[in-house]
Amino acid sequence: MAKGKTTAFFCSECGYESSKWMGQCPACRAWNTMVEEPVAKASSSPGGRGRAGGPQRPAAYTRPSLLSEISLEEQDRIPTGFKELDRVLGDGIVAGSLILVGGDPGIGKSTLLLQVCRHLAADGRRVLYISGEESLKQIKMRANRIGPVSGELRFLCETNLDRIEQALEAEGPQVAVIDSIQTMYREEIASAPGSVSQVRESTGLLLQIAKSRGMAIFVVGHVTKEGVVAGPRVLEHMVDTVLYFEGDRNAAYRILRGVKNRFGSTNEIGVFEMEEKGLAEVENPSEYMLEGRPQDASGAVVSCSMEGTRPILLEVQALVAETSFGMPRRTAAGTDYNRVNLLMAVLEKRCRYEMSRLDAYVNIAGGMRMNEPALDLAIVMALMSSYKDRPVDPGMLIFGEVGLSGEVRAVSQAAQRVYEAAKLGFTSCVLPKVCLDRMKPVPGIKLIGVSTVREAIGIL
Ligand code: TYD
Ligand code: MG
Repeated sequence: MAKGKTTAFFCSECGYESSKWMGQCPACRAWNTMVEEPVAKASSSPGGRGRAGGPQRPAAYTRPSLLSEISLEEQDRIPTGFKELDRVLGDGIVAGSLILVGGDPGIGKSTLLLQVCRHLAADGRRVLYISGEESLKQIKMRANRIGPVSGELRFLCETNLDRIEQALEAEGPQVAVIDSIQTMYREEIASAPGSVSQVRESTGLLLQIAKSRGMAIFVVGHVTKEGVVAGPRVLEHMVDTVLYFEGDRNAAYRILRGVKNRFGSTNEIGVFEMEEKGLAEVENPSEYMLEGRPQDASGAVVSCSMEGTRPILLEVQALVAETSFGMPRRTAAGTDYNRVNLLMAVLEKRCRYEMSRLDAYVNIAGGMRMNEPALDLAIVMALMSSYKDRPVDPGMLIFGEVGLSGEVRAVSQAAQRVYEAAKLGFTSCVLPKVCLDRMKPVPGIKLIGVSTVREAIGIL
């Protein structure tokens, strides 16, 4: 064997490859992300450039097609059995697509995909579920909880991707699931499963299989502490769709969020509830989120966030208290910390409330994560309600974006938010004046337009 380097350094953020260690990745400028991994001679093409490209191209040349020659039949959408999931995917699974499902361990990724597989099989499709994490017995135990399985749903325990490729070739399923990309490995890559190069090369191979055989493949990926799928960022660029399954471990509901979708809109969310017999869809998330909210408590405000095409009502809570140290403490759970600081600065400077002496805790009830600027006004009102210890009318909805000069700015789809509130029996709504001027009156709900934060606080 010729003497040469058998290891290289890879950036765990973006996948950049280098022959020596560096403190900062020259490609993505991240610090301290270079990790050393063995490289196999066979798979690295000259210059190392072939590696980043993922699938190896066959040498034969295929003739480019005219648009009129391309049939759209293959784009047919396959329903998953969950309306919530279909909507996030953009109306069902697209044949030949590679879908990454990320989430914390134990959040319910395997359960969700098993339920999808079960439905697809019952619909007469060939489905193959490949697990590298659980034994066949464990899968069967889970399946027993969910319910009877019929049709062509097969299971395989395997972590060697070359063998998985053969199984996929031989079985020819229409939909396959790879349960956790971090457990898969290719023999020609010398590094351990879950390492940057393994994850990247494995995804490359799966992409090639999905595209060449028109097979839809779901890939499960674990997330790191920072909340991104473990492995290089290139993983997200390679796949067609990235879904995140999130939620508070202690609460029963789970949210499936589309963060990238080549075949539909992103920002859509699907809401599920983890039950004894697997995941169930939550048909009316607003009602669900507001369940058991305190009446007449100060610091609690109901607001509305648009998630994709759907308005969701939620409760914003705030607690402000005199600080007992020199430095006030601020926390924001479920929303942007910097945004909360900014809003408090607006209150301090534009409305002359002494916020700099106060600790502030802001929370979106139920462990939801929402970052829409339309929540600004609700956060401000919740802070002020707590500050003045005066409860906000529980039948009041508040939304609007707050600007740095203390003005309340327009938000999109105001009418839809108001309709959602009216549907749930809310009786009044504080909204940006600009939005009110463009809206028709809604029966049963009193609309109050405000153009500054000061005006809004006057309502308290
Ligand atoms: P799982 O799908 O194994 O999570 P992941 O694949 O994301 O790691 O989910 C496991 C959790 O879900 C576990 O805590 C048990 C719970 N669970 C239920 O509450 N009901 C059920 O019917 C099933 C199958 C699991
Ligand atoms: Mg799992």
